[in-house]
Amino acid sequence: MDIKFSSDMNKNYDLIILGVYEKNKLSKLTEKFEKNLNGLISKTLKNSNFTGKIGDIVNIFSEKIMLVGLGNQNNLDDIVLHKIGGIIGSNIVKIKKENAFLMLDNFDDEKNFAIAYGAVLKTYSFDKYKTQDEKKSDVILTIYSQNPKKSNDEFIKTKAIIDGVITTRNLANEPSNVLTTTALMEEAKKLSKLGVKVDILDEKALKKIGANLILAVGSGSKNPPYIVTMKYTGNKKSKNTVALIGKGLCFDSGGISIKPSKGMDEMKSDMTGAATVIGIIESLAKKKAGVNVTGVIGIAENMPDGASYKPGDVIKSLSGKTVEVLDTDAEGRLVLADCITYTVQKIKPQFMIDFATLTGAIIVALGDETTGLFSNDEKLVEKIKIASEKSGEDVWQLPMGKKFADMVKSDIADIKNLGEPSRHAGSITAAEFLKFFTEGTPWAHLDIAGTAWTTKGNDIAPKGMTGVGVALINKLLEEN
Ligand code: BES
Ligand code: MN
Ligand code: ZN
Repeated sequence: MDIKFSSDMNKNYDLIILGVYEKNKLSKLTEKFEKNLNGLISKTLKNSNFTGKIGDIVNIFSEKIMLVGLGNQNNLDDIVLHKIGGIIGSNIVKIKKENAFLMLDNFDDEKNFAIAYGAVLKTYSFDKYKTQDEKKSDVILTIYSQNPKKSNDEFIKTKAIIDGVITTRNLANEPSNVLTTTALMEEAKKLSKLGVKVDILDEKALKKIGANLILAVGSGSKNPPYIVTMKYTGNKKSKNTVALIGKGLCFDSGGISIKPSKGMDEMKSDMTGAATVIGIIESLAKKKAGVNVTGVIGIAENMPDGASYKPGDVIKSLSGKTVEVLDTDAEGRLVLADCITYTVQKIKPQFMIDFATLTGAIIVALGDETTGLFSNDEKLVEKIKIASEKSGEDVWQLPMGKKFADMVKSDIADIKNLGEPSRHAGSITAAEFLKFFTEGTPWAHLDIAGTAWTTKGNDIAPKGMTGVGVALINKLLEEN
């Protein structure tokens, strides 16, 4: 869906979209429109179930006009507007319109942008592999604005976030035969077109520095592991940077501790953390955000093979700390541990946030609409919670501490990659494992195993990958 702005309501649109508040109070623009129709809208509404609450929608005049419920006029925050946008977008696609004009009310740019955001993201689809279907037409949604040039210019910032979310979804949706480890590395490289400095550590370089955890995870695969750093400098005057770290498992079979076959296909999206970091950096670069952010993603594929790492192995991490591997399916924390060490030692950020589809346990605990938040720094937690409220991306902090850290103590090495008993506090013990490598650098971990994917679809995403995290971090960096 493409978004445009125009002050001309008399062009040849195939659909006009008008707004109605609760108790069927017509918006100012709708009232104006209604005058030319001799009160026909109010008359039509009287004979329908439509009351103007959010979610109400009715197509009238042989689907030439769509009336949209806007709810309470004083409750139109971004999150409500995203939802309204999503409802509008879905309905335009459903009734197969291609050139719609949106004039809900005399909204300012900010409100219109929020509606556009919901409409574009809710109508996202991943259909590049469908060769037999009728080609879906591209929808143009033109939004009424008294100053269309200004609206167009300022929309760039919202569009940048939309683009970032779509990049994350597209990458996460790609199957692993196409998006191999090398292909994902190449995708990260593409950010250099936007002025981002991209550096690749390939297998040889990883061996040289001793990143043996990520090497071990990748050892059973023909597709080699990488650590990729992506440096966006939006504030040249400052040497400070924030670091964003992502788990990039292009496929997670479990390795020697192999997963059951049912649902294993979902593990093609075990690189969503890395895709999130790429999406965030794309959006920051496109909107020319005045911040410095360095992305660090650990890319690997976890496969069973004669060369695979095995349960019982002891591995020396990049940090020098030794790790006892008790389950090769707890591979994400291993990859992230080396990425965290690399970040702490080489990037030295003010704070770092990692994104990972890390544990099935977080889905059991929080479902698919709330991301698990873990941290060693309460100030950072506060910032994330504020950004969460403003972006509408829900997070919930889980506890950490000695009694959980004790559960990953190893008898023979410095730490083990499985809790004891293994399923108790599964998401927290994974977070404790990561924390062991943070060395006091302020850090937060977002376990997105549940929220990366929506089974039924949500307000701003169809069923499938959500692109969660991109809007959250854009908000966080805007606020600070
Ligand atoms: N990638 C998985 C976690 C996951 C599960 C993500 C389901 C999305 C949906 C991760 O690598 C994993 O296998 N975790 C194990 C850890 C266990 C072996 C300690 C898990 O959650 O079962
Ligand atoms: Mn796994
Ligand atoms: Zn995994």
